[in-house]
Amino acid sequence: MKFEEFQLERNQSIWENKVDYNLSESGVHPGTLDSLFSTEFIKKITTTELTYGFTEGSPELRQSIASIYPGATPENVQAFNGSAEANMVAIMTLLSAGDEMVYMVPNYLQIHGFAQGLGVNVKTFTLHESLNWQPDLDELRSLVTDKTKMICVCNPNNPTGSVLPKETIMAIGEIAKSVGAWILSDEVYRGAELNGEECTSVWETGYEKAIVNCGLSKAYGLPGLRLGWSVSNESYIQDSWATHDYTSIAIGRLSDLIAAHVLHPDRRMDTLNQTRASLTENLGLFQDWVKSFDGQFSFIPPQAGAMAFAGYEWDINSSKLVEKVRNEASVMLVAGDWYGMDHYLRFGYGAKRSDLEAALERITPILKLL
Ligand SMILES: Cc1ncc(COP(=O)(O)O)c(C=O)c1O
Repeated sequence: MKFEEFQLERNQSIWENKVDYNLSESGVHPGTLDSLFSTEFIKKITTTELTYGFTEGSPELRQSIASIYPGATPENVQAFNGSAEANMVAIMTLLSAGDEMVYMVPNYLQIHGFAQGLGVNVKTFTLHESLNWQPDLDELRSLVTDKTKMICVCNPNNPTGSVLPKETIMAIGEIAKSVGAWILSDEVYRGAELNGEECTSVWETGYEKAIVNCGLSKAYGLPGLRLGWSVSNESYIQDSWATHDYTSIAIGRLSDLIAAHVLHPDRRMDTLNQTRASLTENLGLFQDWVKSFDGQFSFIPPQAGAMAFAGYEWDINSSKLVEKVRNEASVMLVAGDWYGMDHYLRFGYGAKRSDLEAALERITPILKLL
């Protein structure tokens, strides 16, 4: 078992806390406990016993999560340390060396790298810029065979911020069903749609072999809680719980408590509405900045998430450009290279507005001189 370097995460791990401005994030800027919660709830946090809690997630948390997905019950939910763990557990639970997976690109390459490291044969299908970062479903159909054990999508997508429409989700459901494959849908950006409409979840296909992985890190702006979940059929949830016993046993007790509070149906939309408002405002600022480069960038604005993925014309490799910007302006960006797509940059526009403004101002003269 050999894992290739996860370039995006490796670079973030090394640099994100060393730069003045970190525009490598893909979620909205996180708050603090006292800025987000009432004194009464903070008291509850400080007086909670730090036990292991419920290793599958507390009943309150699982109920709150289930309420997001029509018809789901707590038995359809397993809580994890981030959607990253939910992804890892899905692969460990369902796939073995030699199995075949069909995987959407571009994508956050965790599942790709992890599955390949385990010996899974990963085939890719593409979101095309010429199709507004949508897939060609015939391409997907041509790749899926009786050997395909799993189809993986990321919706809304990292890095393009595109959203698959309902009919595409339903069609992917049918393609998976035709060969009995699992669909693993990483939906960690769901809830951060700029038009205010939560996109269709793969859960809504009603297909019993659909798994939704999601979490609080992006749309809810709470990555420090390391809180994620899987929603699927009860039998998969039981199996994933057994794998969870090996990976991390349980989620953090306090993360469970806070997540149940944030995701409660009475409060969930408060957070998401704030996310959408701040993203809409920041995207305007970012788009004006892009325009000031007179066509040097090609940019399809995201439909969701806090990432702006832009192609550029300058004759410089994207890793080199990110390094140059980091060295000369102390601003961290994400290189298209880390997605296998040179000549693109990913900008985290969910940063604090004043930081976004200051960071873009610092980058401008560097790019203008290229
Ligand atoms: C598509 C996608 N899935 C999963 C993750 C990991 O997120 P979490 O913090 O929920 O583990 C990320 C992080 O950037 C992501 O972009």
